[in-house]
Amino acid sequence: MSYFETLTELLERSFAPYSGFHVASVVVTREGRIFKGVNVESVAYPTTICAERNAIFSAVTEGIRPGDIAEVHILARNSAQELFPAYPCGSCRQIIAEQSLNQATVYVYHSSTEISRHTIAELLPHGFFSLE
Ligand code: THU
Repeated sequence: MSYFETLTELLERSFAPYSGFHVASVVVTREGRIFKGVNVESVAYPTTICAERNAIFSAVTEGIRPGDIAEVHILARNSAQELFPAYPCGSCRQIIAEQSLNQATVYVYHSSTEISRHTIAELLPHGFFSLE
């Protein structure tokens, strides 16, 4: 199954009754392990969590270490039911950068065939990595 097909299936699990904006993310490690996430909204709006962070937090929970994440794939659909190229929010960029040691490639799907590809270093220049 292609990442687009996996993401399309995953999108159905997104819980987004407040925004109507559904997001699915697949994270791929250097060893080819795959972790999935969807956005989960809350009626207490700021409690909402993004798809990308859900996927990465799941990966960390399953034992991946900083530097293991190679790719982050993102598919989103807006409330008009149209695919929408969703770039990761600032908070997700921080987590992607940290957990990939600034090495991940981010794939944003416009459609099954049109896919934007950026390094996380491009998306989050001058990142914050250490307190020391
Ligand atoms: N959202 C994500 O899941 N990922 C992003 O990169 C951008 C935003 C979610 C959060 C919220 O549930 C909805 O999209 C609208 O902001």
